[in-house]
Amino acid sequence: MNQTKPVRVAIAGLGSRGLDTYAAYAKIFPDKMRITAVAEPRQERLLAAAAAYDVPSDLCFATAEEMLECEKLADVMFICTQDRQHYAQAAAAIKKGYHLLLEKPVSPDNSECAEIARLAKEYKRLVTVCHVLRYTPFYRELKRLLDAGTIGEVVTVQAIENVQYWHQAHSFVRGNWAREEETSPMILQKCCHDMDILLWLTGKRSRYVSSYGSLFHFRPENAPHNAALRCLDCVAGDTCPYNAVKIYLTNERTGVLHGKTDWPANVLALRPDEDSIRRALREGPYGICVYKAGNDVVDHQVVNIELEDGSTVNFTMSAFTSRGGRTLKIMGTMGDIQADMETNLIDVGVFGKEHEIIDVNKLADDFSGHGGGDIRMVEELLDQVASGAEPGTGLTSIDRSVESHYLAMAAEYSRLHHGQSVSMEEWRQRLMS
Ligand SMILES: NC(=O)c1ccc[n+]([C@@H]2O[C@H](COP(=O)([O-])OP(=O)(O)OC[C@H]3O[C@@H](n4cnc5c(N)ncnc54)[C@H](O)[C@@H]3O)[C@@H](O)[C@H]2O)c1
Repeated sequence: MNQTKPVRVAIAGLGSRGLDTYAAYAKIFPDKMRITAVAEPRQERLLAAAAAYDVPSDLCFATAEEMLECEKLADVMFICTQDRQHYAQAAAAIKKGYHLLLEKPVSPDNSECAEIARLAKEYKRLVTVCHVLRYTPFYRELKRLLDAGTIGEVVTVQAIENVQYWHQAHSFVRGNWAREEETSPMILQKCCHDMDILLWLTGKRSRYVSSYGSLFHFRPENAPHNAALRCLDCVAGDTCPYNAVKIYLTNERTGVLHGKTDWPANVLALRPDEDSIRRALREGPYGICVYKAGNDVVDHQVVNIELEDGSTVNFTMSAFTSRGGRTLKIMGTMGDIQADMETNLIDVGVFGKEHEIIDVNKLADDFSGHGGGDIRMVEELLDQVASGAEPGTGLTSIDRSVESHYLAMAAEYSRLHHGQSVSMEEWRQRLMS
């Protein structure tokens, strides 16, 4: 593409996503992206962004709301604030004339999701919800295989999101998404990705959904009897896999300092080192015992989905896995596929033939950030904006993204009603009325 000027980007929220992930792309492809305005209440991060990306002080704002009071300052706004802030900021930005990179979830309220989709249509804006998995070489390869009919028609899918024990402790017990009232239910917050990717892979709409799940383990009554409030003071730390010292500072087997400074250490401190991490563990939420953190989101959940043609999906989210990543078994009329995003291996078993192992590691170079999804998603949106692409022409769009949010919230409704089956048709109709 003959692109003359970089797309101008305003970033709302300079946390882990806004600053550590997306802002960095302005350095990776400076010909495509220039950061022209930023908003963030944490002064240290606002100043760091201004210095790194040459943003003048009059275009640095303490909040997205202040930034949105100004005339349009960029072509696209990246909305990277917390879950319950997205809706109002996104609605205001669309009306102001911005295209959007909108962090998921759009909103825990399905009617607000529908409203963002409606506004995007009315104002003809591109709105990419950050369903990054669609952009990964791993899922693209799976989609290619399914669309090519390699295993015939998909009849059953079994999918697991292996959250991993320490990731659950970091994000959903101690961290930003521990309490539903402040953020979103786990099945939306973490698994709207899975709902989206399962609908995309099968290419079908959902008809019925039911779900069970609970907060099984990270509760006060499961704490060792001698557990302290903070891991730094805890005598039970040696045998506790959730010990924050092991997660953020030391190698869990050798006990030697590991010196890691990337995620999740950079959530605890802008410039993580032993001192700043120890301070965070002493003073902040990430050093608190996982059994005493006041969390309430589930640590395991199962979702059963009947798709429009009677095929079915069974999805499990679990904190209790030693490895992270997603695993799938897709069963079709002519064969099956077993795939593991952690290893990037896809095993294709066409009935009556030798199994073929596809090593996705050999299909692409860049697997940074969500298996290579982050960077490819941003690049697609920048290219779309630069070329004046029509909304709905990218790999994903707000219309498609809201379906995953409807499905997740219907599953949550079911979970809260003892697994009652929810008709997705009725769910959508209620939203529209
Ligand atoms: N797409 C993905 O795979 C993915 C992965 C992680 C997080 N997320 C989503 O991204 C969003 C941000 O997550 P994060 O990990 O960066 O969180 P974070 O807490 O690190 O970042 C949010 C930032 O917003 C700032 N903020 C708060 N109020 C603000 C306001 N009024 N105006 C501007 N900034 C404000 C906070 O100070 C913070 O720095 C969340 O909604 C999360 O669900 C998506």
